[in-house]
Amino acid sequence: MSTFQAPKGTYDLIPPDSAAYLAVREAIAAPLRRSGYGYVETPGFEDVELFARGVGESTDIVTKEMYVFETKGGSRLALRPEGTASVLRAALQANLHKQGLPVKLWYSGSYYRYERPQKGRYRHFSQVGAEAIGAEDPALDAELIILANDAYRSLGLSNFRILLNSLGDKECRPAYRAALQDFLRGLDLDEDTRRRIDINPLRVLDDKRPAVQAQLVGVPLLRDHLCEACKEYHEQVRELLNDAGVDFEDDPKLVRGLDYYTRTTFEFVHDGLGSQSAVGGGGRYDGLSEMIGGPALPSVGWALGVDRTVLALEAEGIELELPAATTVFAVPLGEEARRVLFAKVSELRRAGVAADFAYGGKGIKAAMKAANRSGARFAVVAGERDLAEGVVQLKDMRTGEQEPVALDAIVDRLRAPGA
Ligand code: HAM
Repeated sequence: MSTFQAPKGTYDLIPPDSAAYLAVREAIAAPLRRSGYGYVETPGFEDVELFARGVGESTDIVTKEMYVFETKGGSRLALRPEGTASVLRAALQANLHKQGLPVKLWYSGSYYRYERPQKGRYRHFSQVGAEAIGAEDPALDAELIILANDAYRSLGLSNFRILLNSLGDKECRPAYRAALQDFLRGLDLDEDTRRRIDINPLRVLDDKRPAVQAQLVGVPLLRDHLCEACKEYHEQVRELLNDAGVDFEDDPKLVRGLDYYTRTTFEFVHDGLGSQSAVGGGGRYDGLSEMIGGPALPSVGWALGVDRTVLALEAEGIELELPAATTVFAVPLGEEARRVLFAKVSELRRAGVAADFAYGGKGIKAAMKAANRSGARFAVVAGERDLAEGVVQLKDMRTGEQEPVALDAIVDRLRAPGA
């Protein structure tokens, strides 16, 4: 191991690339902020039981992928592998559900799964998510899908698809599950997969191996086993999406890797990403609150992967238009200029102008190089003679033109739009 090496399956966000990550987070959050979602932040770890009960004992996430540790005090905690269980726990703890429903929350943060790393699949990754807690209303499911769609469109993405399914509810799922198990038991499957038939048969539908998929021709689909209430609910979600002009594909085999889903489930997949194509996913989880010991609170939500969304932008060749980090770069020549320009830089910043300074006592050549590298539109250069005349030299880095500006006027001049 080299001395400077991030742990396996992780990577650092560093400038200039990190700016795109921030912009993606912001772009996903923007539609949520406009739609009544309040910001929530929960700890990076929780009692392991929350995820075991919430995400599900039979999921890969809980059985294989959680970072579990024991504290010195003897508590068993897990780094959060996802956000939904934590957010619901926090809402219940704060009694938000007693102050009017639905409770609409959004979040952004780091999540941890001990997965086999590959492009687009990391052990530490980043999600922006949204949860609408405590209402059973197809318009809420539609709202969330529309907002994710709008977020992606606002980033300029177009090569993605929305896959939609219904997983039924406690009325219709058990009978379907039994029918599915009957069908699957008649197939030629390996031992691991046979075990899955007992504990989590729906996951077999999601098996990507051609040998398995080939045998699934004619498999019973939940679509044909939905109860009237689920069918009606799903139809309404579909209609609302159609009315909103949001394209989606019905995918009757879509199952998700977390156990809490009921009714609406969906995934955003990007076609330029290879095997890790799911850029986001979510759905309804009407029973989760009760599973973790709360009251009945039918809810719906999603999480979009920031890492994969950035990869999707790269795959589509989209370069976000990011504001320059620095607008003005100050280059002092000599001690007196250093004091005066340093004060001006603080003034500019307070006036809302992004400004930086040639630190480290550089000579003019190195300092102008730094100004160039910063991407600043303007350099403010001053030496003793300038200061004696009460001016600084304002250099337009694009045109190379330079003009003296009164020291007293420089902040106002640079504050003006377009300077
Ligand atoms: P999820 O499908 O497990 O759902 O994760 C959502 C997104 O997070 C994925 O589509 C993917 O973009 C990203 N993601 C997941 N694992 C990794 C990884 N190892 N490396 C990189 N990106 C990853 C959930 O987490 C649910 N909590 C979503 C939800 C919210 N359902 C209801 N509310």
